[in-house]
Formats: sequence, structure tokens, C-alpha cells
Amino acid sequence: MPSAPSVLVTLDASRNVPLHQQVYADLREAILSGRIAARAQLPSTRLLASELRISRTTVSLAFDQLRAEGYLEARERGGTFVAAAIPDRLLSAARPVARPVARPAPSVAALGTSKRGAALAGLATPSMAMSAHPVRAFRTGMPALDAFPHAVWGQISARLWRRAPRALLAYGAPNGYEPLRRAIAHYLQISRGVRCAADEVFIVGGSQEALYLAAQLLIEPGDAAWIEDPGYPGARNALVAAGARVVGVPLDDEGLDVAQGRRLAPHARLAYITPSHQYPLGVTMSIARRLAMLEWARESGAWILEDDYDSEFRYTSRPLPSLQGLDAEDGARNARAIYIGSFSKTLFPSLRIGFLVVPSALVDSFGAARAVLDRQSPTVEQAVLAEFIGDGHFARHVRRMRALYAERQEALLRAAQNGPLAEHIETAASGAGMHLMGWLRHLRDDRRASTCALEAGIETPPLSAMSLAPQPRAALLLGYAAFTPQTLAKASDRLAGALRAARAKPGAKEKRALRA
Ligand SMILES: Cc1ncc(COP(=O)(O)O)c(C=O)c1O
Repeated sequence: MPSAPSVLVTLDASRNVPLHQQVYADLREAILSGRIAARAQLPSTRLLASELRISRTTVSLAFDQLRAEGYLEARERGGTFVAAAIPDRLLSAARPVARPVARPAPSVAALGTSKRGAALAGLATPSMAMSAHPVRAFRTGMPALDAFPHAVWGQISARLWRRAPRALLAYGAPNGYEPLRRAIAHYLQISRGVRCAADEVFIVGGSQEALYLAAQLLIEPGDAAWIEDPGYPGARNALVAAGARVVGVPLDDEGLDVAQGRRLAPHARLAYITPSHQYPLGVTMSIARRLAMLEWARESGAWILEDDYDSEFRYTSRPLPSLQGLDAEDGARNARAIYIGSFSKTLFPSLRIGFLVVPSALVDSFGAARAVLDRQSPTVEQAVLAEFIGDGHFARHVRRMRALYAERQEALLRAAQNGPLAEHIETAASGAGMHLMGWLRHLRDDRRASTCALEAGIETPPLSAMSLAPQPRAALLLGYAAFTPQTLAKASDRLAGALRAARAKPGAKEKRALRA
């Protein structure tokens, strides 16, 4: 090896890039430029961490990502090595910029891709390294995997396979398995006030595919699209991937500020909103705002994508019925709202089953787009889910999880308000959802706070990673649904330790604030 890897890594704590991503980016560049040779053995994570004076977890995260992307290989007898063959096309790549923080799109010339490909490669997507780790506190958006009724799911699945209906194994309809579409339509009518027939329900591979398809079908490159700011990065990414000019519209305590949206981009083609429970702040959109949204959409011919991702988990009051139901009230002819839901929160995210409710005029277009993309969702899983819902297990599971999540939220609040974490963050009870906002009391830079937490083994995404405009206060998101009270208490203390250490070593933003 020409030089020790620690010499090739330059860390800068004041950059807006987490340390593990800086390590990843520098090692990747050293491999691509040949400064670390193919097949060279790397030092252990322990040694590299001690040379760089950072935690071992930080180095492990960087190694995990490099392994996941094929730059490094772990050998059976131990040790981590640079892969024997790095594809030639990568060897000529320009200096890459770390993932998954939002970054300027790499140039087309550097990647050899289309402009669209380069824009896609520049998106901040969930890190592969992160998903390689077991679920740990306070990962957001994660349901209680410990409480999933495996036995019932397994029985239904086994029964289906025993019957072995051949029709389930052949290609299915792009819009989904009919009994599942019927079960979802029934559920949505009763519990969410959605006006729909089974023919308007479209099964997809999770909300992300719903957002991707809707953006591809409805956006012309260059069209403006409203998103909530702060808001869900998955929606922003799908819109950017379709060439939209994304316009962040601020929120207040009634939800997205429609008057501001009208000022910023009156002729936007589409608006993405989470009216039941805004992600990530948790506001419920008022009826007045819902009506204002619909009025704007009708006047300007815009579409509204209503993402109803976690409305099942309301603890203190009943959710407002869907905006889609309000839209369809005066007849479906002028319908502007497209409703999106997912089983990622109510069951488990790797199921990859979500759905859209689309106005009937759009059903065929969605069918064609789906057939081009990946034909259909796996039929056997759809059939298991249809029976799970039809036999009443789904409603029972959601009821149980609602009670469990309310208890877990209380446990997190107890730990965060009565323990050492109270010195560093401010939290308040929420009547809904699966995470709480942890408002930082002293630190100004939530990305740095999040990185320090990650180095202590705690996952807590920063609010600024979900924001286009600078936010008035820095905050971390604390997911609680997937964790027992004991885990939440331990993780809270650990987070307090990480934030204490971060405070003792102020970053650039904190130093600026102290000088001001
Ligand atoms: C706002 C929002 N919508 C949708 C989803 C679910 O996405 P999917 O169905 O693709 O798993 C999430 C998951 O975190 C989310 O936060």
C-alpha cells in the first residue's frame, strides 16, 4: 500500500458532512485513484479509528458502505481488503462527494450518465450503510417489529402455499390483486373517509413507488411542485427525479401555508402534503387549509398528492377524514387529490406494499406506467395481506400497536424529561405518530449533533436534513415505536452523553453564535 489509509483521510468537523461519510469519501477516492492498490489489506477499524482519533463506529460505518458498494471485501480468515477488480468506469471517476447528505449533482461527464442519471446520483437517499445495521434507537419510521404477529402471518402464508393456486404464480394485473384492492377500498372508506371503488385502488411497492409513478406521470421537466418545508425527503427525491422544480412552502400550526404557496409558485403542477400528521413536525392540517388547498388545486388545475402514511396511530383524538374524501364530495369529475398509503408503518417496511387511490381518469395511465417499471407487486404477499385484513387481524394488530406506541411515547417522554437528556433537548407529548421532535437547547448545528449521536451508536436524524430553508430551531427526530421502555431509557442517557460531549467541543455554528 503506497501510504497508510489514515494519511489519506482528512477530517473536518466543521463541514456539514458526517465524519463517517468523510472517511468513506476519502477512502473511496484513494481506491479509485490507485493510491490504495487493489487487493491491499486495510488496517482494522480499531487501528484506523485510533490513528484518526475518532470512534470505531464511525470507521465501521464507512467500511460498511464501501463493502456494500463493492470497493472492499471481507476475507473469511479475517481482514478487510480492497476489491480485486474495481470496474474501469469507476476508476476514472472524479472526486466523489459523500452520501447521503444532499450534495451538488455529480457532473454528467464525470459519471458518463444522462443528466437525469447525474441528478439521481446526487440525491440524498437512505444510506446503505445505515440499513446494514440492526434497527437501533431512535430510528424513525420503524414499527414495533418485536410485536408483529409472525405466527398468524405464517399460518395464512402456509395455508395459501398448501392450496398452491397456480393463478397466484403467474403474472398478475399491474394495478394489484383484486381481493386486496377490495379489502383496502373497504378499509379506507370506513376508517379514512376516502371515496373510492376497488378499481381506483392501485397496489404499488410502498409509498415510494407511488410517489415515483405519480411524479413521472404528472410532472413535465421544469414544472414547479410544492412540498412542505420541512418535509419528507422521499417525496422531494421522487419529484426531483421527474425533473420538477421543487418549491418548499413553509408551515404554521394549521399546516402548509397555502397563501405562501400561491405567492411562491401559483402555477405549480402538483403539491405533496401530509395533512393528517405532517412529517416531520406533526401538525394536523386544519379544515380551512384543506379547503384552501382544494380551491387552489381546482383553480390552477394542479394535483394534490396526499400522503397518509401513519394516520392509524392517533392516541388522543380521532383523525380528521382524508382530504381526498373532501375533494370527491362534490363529484369525482373535478377530483384533484391522489391518496397514498402504505403498510410500512402498520405492518413492516420490507413488505413493500403500499397503494394509491387515483381518480378513475388516471387508472389506465398508472397501469401502463407500472407495467413499464416493474409490472406488478408480488402476488403471493398481496394474497396473504388480503386474508390478513379480511380475517380481522389487521384491525386487531393496529389497535394493539396504537396502545403499545402510546406507552412507548410515554416511556420516551419520561426518560427525556426526567433524565440527563432534559438538559440538552426539549420534548413534548404528541397526540399521534411514531416519533417526537427533540428540540436542541444549546447546540445550533443539528447535523453535527446527529453525527456525534451516531458515533455513540444512536440514530437520530437532524431536522435540517429534511429542510430546504434554514429552520428557526435545531432539532433531532426521536423514533420510539420500535423500542421497549428499557431501550428508550438507555438510549436517552447515551444520547445525553453524546450531546454533552458535543457541547463541550463547540462546532463552527456554535462558535459563531457565541461570538455574536
Ligand atoms: C412521510 C412518509 N411517507 C411514507 C413513508 C413510507 O414509505 P414506504 O411506504 O415507501 O416504506 C414514510 C416512511 O418513513 C414517511 O415518513
